[in-house]
Amino acid sequence: MPTTILAIESSCDETAVAILRHDEGRVEVLASEISSQIDIHREFGGVVPELASRNHSLHLRPLIEIALEDAGLKIDDIDAFGATAGPGLASSLLVGNTTAKSLSVATGKPFISVNHMEGHLLSPFLEAPELKSNLALIVSGGHTLLIHMRDFGDYKLLGSTRDDAAGEAYDKVGKMLGLPYPGGPEIEKQALDGSPTAFNFPRSMMKDGLDFSFSGLKTAVLYQLEKLDPEQGRAPSEAIPDLCASFQQAVIDVLVAKTMLAAQQCGEKLISLSGGVSCNKTLRSAMQQTCDQHGFELLIAPPALSTDNAAMIGFVALHSHLRGQHSSLHEDINPNLKLAQA
Ligand code: KG4
Ligand code: ZN
Repeated sequence: MPTTILAIESSCDETAVAILRHDEGRVEVLASEISSQIDIHREFGGVVPELASRNHSLHLRPLIEIALEDAGLKIDDIDAFGATAGPGLASSLLVGNTTAKSLSVATGKPFISVNHMEGHLLSPFLEAPELKSNLALIVSGGHTLLIHMRDFGDYKLLGSTRDDAAGEAYDKVGKMLGLPYPGGPEIEKQALDGSPTAFNFPRSMMKDGLDFSFSGLKTAVLYQLEKLDPEQGRAPSEAIPDLCASFQQAVIDVLVAKTMLAAQQCGEKLISLSGGVSCNKTLRSAMQQTCDQHGFELLIAPPALSTDNAAMIGFVALHSHLRGQHSSLHEDINPNLKLAQA
């Protein structure tokens, strides 16, 4: 019997709805709709929580209707409803979570509460034949996590950031350089015209376990800006590509080195890379090259599944549903929801 899941993602500034079907061991994404609010938040230089939740409320119902239409289904054809419960912005999480619970009550079908980071963690496997144990690096706007995934639901935290997440560092440095929000894709673009060795930025905690720290790197970029233009603390526009390329290289060197170390420590031969920052082509190719050198297999989600989307939430909900793991309607959102323990 095929199983059909409708999932909602609303943890930050993307409203997303997806419908997935599982049939004879195969998973198919029947619809995946995203309404991005990036243009709305750009003029404020970052996400404004009140605007985010208001826009989730505006867009969610039409997106559900479009997703059902795309999939050629009616609400009664859905077998279970999943929604992100955290981590994320409380007022944004509430919109998607409450909507999924309401649909569950109205149709009498189960509700499944999903951890957003588990969505990222499993996203590289959405187009793979099966889940496999692996060492995962998740690099998003809010998190930098090294996880040993032994099985579905069996996750061990090996390393995380002590301060800024990798994506957060990209966004903050982008802001310092006067680039539009979000800084990640803009820095990647600028870096194409710059030299990664123009400035020697620090590789923090490189020889110091599996935790990360990116705030020193961010401060080093700031000091460099002040040196370039002591009065304004700004970079002359011709220095921006070199600053971006050198900053990016420092981030990538640390991410790749710690991922290799973690994989060696936990003995996994498969490495997975996920989260918004994994869209970065320079990171992808550096990770691929180093994996090839060390004999590791690398699995990366396509870019559309790397940034926030509801297909990855539906994928987790589907795996839970197939194992009979449903959530109580009393299960609340949790803005600080954790994925794994050390
Ligand atoms: O996973 P995601 O969409 O949302 C969170 O769960 O946070 O990640 C968003 C982050 C932002 O910090 C954004 O700047 C970064 O991913 N990002 C990138 C690129 N595309 C998105 N960072 C570097 N290079 C990119 N191409
Ligand atoms: Zn995310």
